[in-house]
Amino acid sequence: MQLCDVLLRPCTADDLVALEAWAPTGNSRVHAMRFAHQEAGTSTYFLAVRRQEPGTVVGSCELRWNGCAATEVPRCPEANGLQVWPPDLQSHGIGTQMLGLLEHEARERGHHTLGLGVGDPRPKRLYLRLGYVDTGPDYLDRYTWIDEHHREHHVAERTRWMMKPLTGGRLEAGRL
Ligand SMILES: CC(C)(COP(=O)(O)OP(=O)(O)OC[C@H]1O[C@@H](n2cnc3c(N)ncnc32)[C@H](O)[C@@H]1OP(=O)(O)O)[C@@H](O)C(=O)NCCC(=O)NCCS
Repeated sequence: MQLCDVLLRPCTADDLVALEAWAPTGNSRVHAMRFAHQEAGTSTYFLAVRRQEPGTVVGSCELRWNGCAATEVPRCPEANGLQVWPPDLQSHGIGTQMLGLLEHEARERGHHTLGLGVGDPRPKRLYLRLGYVDTGPDYLDRYTWIDEHHREHHVAERTRWMMKPLTGGRLEAGRL
């Protein structure tokens, strides 16, 4: 069932307090970090809002124009941190709409492929359905989160790279 139609818009500085209330990230300040990447010109931090109620955020994704930080991954823009929130909105077609809109944004900038990393089988099913190809490689997605005592935790998660051709053509699945 489709719960709502969504639009994408770039995050602004005025959104940051409300975003922390919407999907709290504690001392990691993930929304502010993604917005800083946008300010630096390397990303656009897209917010998905209800078409009928543009003040209501239902999802977010950072489109990293410079691609994935892991050097072994092929160069193309990366949809990083795709999420639909709160959880009761998941599985109602919003993520599918968001990916279609993100692909449009990448195509508009002249890109021929969009990539993303996936660690879990469940979202991977969605990406395969939407035409993303399991090209690989496997790589370590490295990030840091900061706990309530301001201690840093460095994480490296095994992740599979997938890509979708945006302007025709085919991509070969990689070796597992
Ligand atoms: C993954 C996610 C963005 C998809 O958006 P969505 O609006 O739920 O997806 P859609 O309704 O368009 O499509 C449904 C598919 O999404 C995936 N999905 C749905 N809920 C999910 C969840 N809680 N966690 C992971 N994947 C989920 C499944 O593949 C589902 O297909 P299925 O019903 O055959 O299992 C969203 O579920 C989410 O934010 N999940 C938690 C964070 C996450 O896992 N992000 C992916 C990072 S790679």
